[in-house]
Amino acid sequence: MIPRIYIPGDSGALALGAEKVAKAIEKELADRGIEAKIVRNGSRGAYFLEPMVEVATENGRVAYGPVKPSDVKSLFDSGFLTGGHHKRWLGAPDKIPFLARQTRLTFARCGVINPLSLDHYKAHGGLKGLQNAVAMAPADIVKQVTESGLRGRGGAGFPTGIKWKTVLDTIADKKYIVCNADEGDSATFADRMIMEGDPFVLIEGMAIAGVATGATKGFVYIRSEYPHAVAMMQKAVEAARKAGLLGLNVLGSPHAFDMEIRVGAGAYVCGEETSLLNSLEGKRGVVRAKPPLPAIQGLFGKPTVINNVISLASVPVIMDKGAAFYKDFGMGRSRGTIPIQIAGNVRYGGLFEAAFGMTLGEIVDDIGGGTATGRPVKAVQVGGPLGAYFPRSLFDTPFDYEAFAAKDGLIGHAGITVFDDTADMLKQARFAMEFCAIESCGKCTPCRIGSTRGVETIDKIARGSEPEKQIELVTDLCNTMRFGSLCALGGFTPYPVMSAINHFREDFKPAPVAEAAE
Ligand SMILES: Cc1cc2nc3c(=O)[nH]c(=O)nc-3n(C[C@H](O)[C@H](O)[C@H](O)COP(=O)(O)O)c2cc1C
Ligand code: SF4
Repeated sequence: MIPRIYIPGDSGALALGAEKVAKAIEKELADRGIEAKIVRNGSRGAYFLEPMVEVATENGRVAYGPVKPSDVKSLFDSGFLTGGHHKRWLGAPDKIPFLARQTRLTFARCGVINPLSLDHYKAHGGLKGLQNAVAMAPADIVKQVTESGLRGRGGAGFPTGIKWKTVLDTIADKKYIVCNADEGDSATFADRMIMEGDPFVLIEGMAIAGVATGATKGFVYIRSEYPHAVAMMQKAVEAARKAGLLGLNVLGSPHAFDMEIRVGAGAYVCGEETSLLNSLEGKRGVVRAKPPLPAIQGLFGKPTVINNVISLASVPVIMDKGAAFYKDFGMGRSRGTIPIQIAGNVRYGGLFEAAFGMTLGEIVDDIGGGTATGRPVKAVQVGGPLGAYFPRSLFDTPFDYEAFAAKDGLIGHAGITVFDDTADMLKQARFAMEFCAIESCGKCTPCRIGSTRGVETIDKIARGSEPEKQIELVTDLCNTMRFGSLCALGGFTPYPVMSAINHFREDFKPAPVAEAAE
């Protein structure tokens, strides 16, 4: 048997040196005259172990990591092609605690298969969901997705089935599926990992959405900072077209569905769904007022499903294993699994897919292993730049949409950023306002002007100029932004600002200075 070596081509692994490792392995194979097949897989998401190289042995896969180019010679000397022991030896990848503790439904194949091999995809359960869907009535597909309890993973947590039903029920000559792959939140990389590691699952999910709603065309709007994901998706779409998964007759059925990859314009606000639609239409990425809902008048004025990558990539497993199977995971109204992205100052950073319900403390201390610096955790921002900062006293909050909302927080796209005790929360609050000022689309006043006034007022607190009075002003401003903004950029910036003020008040009490210095 020709040895098979898996080296991730995922951009996270590449950033950690995977390309140099691949070159060193190729050279060593040539020098030693060994014939082997190198597969460039995606990442399994344990980034603290990347580049993680795996070899297929008679007893299953054996992983090594993090591998440096300087390790390669000794890996060969240790017989790594047959799973030999070495200081980088990790054993069977699915037994590595960080991976073994996960429930991988959406990411089941990510990092395991060759991302561009439809045969690998099918051998690992791919296409069963779409096969089932094309044999069903559209309304029954929508019912199954609704009953699974799947909610949008892009941030708002809106029930996916209800959105699809609105598009199905709206009569039009043309309908669209738009996949939001703008992934701009801090600490998030789940969308990128799927597109680079298992692109067919997204294509399958979009095709199911098309069959379910009567949409015949799909677009994936990918942020421009993701060139590897763009290239991978383009290749995967071509392969899917050739294999009859896309085209006039999806998997031989009477349903037509095709798709295109579009590169984003590079603004955070273009991730907001209506702004994204404007950008896709070639217009400036400015937020549109709702109504009309995109499900009724979306892209080019036609009924449009807009879903996040993970929402769509979670549909195939629901259509394969059933609504009850998916719904069985999770808690309360948060059903199924969620790919939690653990980042920032953390020891074990990476993607952890689990059923909803783990506490924040378990995720940060237990799975993430605390901070990378070894200092105490001071704060965790959950949900990207618009998410609240949670102190340790809120670490018993379960990962659940409603539980986070009840504590003035949000799950968002499930990215979490860990900070140690050297973090200055006043600076973080200022950063939130500044981010809003820079990224604001400018359409409404509370966001466009309020964010700039917010920066100025927080600067006054930093200078010690009547801090209590300024905090009152910021609180008032945050209320105006929260209730008066057109979209969640202006509307949710108060979350990081007010959570920093409320939970870390000591950081907002600098030494007073004379007002004359103003
Ligand atoms: C400022 C802003 C940025 C957003 N960025 C993204 C993004 O990058 N990706 C995403 O899926 N949703 C993003 N959203 C949420 C989308 O507007 C929308 O809710 C989502 O695409 C719907 O898909 P879902 O129901 O599958 O989550 C953003 C929202 C706002 C207000
Ligand atoms: S809240 Fe900000 S980003 Fe959203 S519409 Fe208003 S100005 Fe634009």
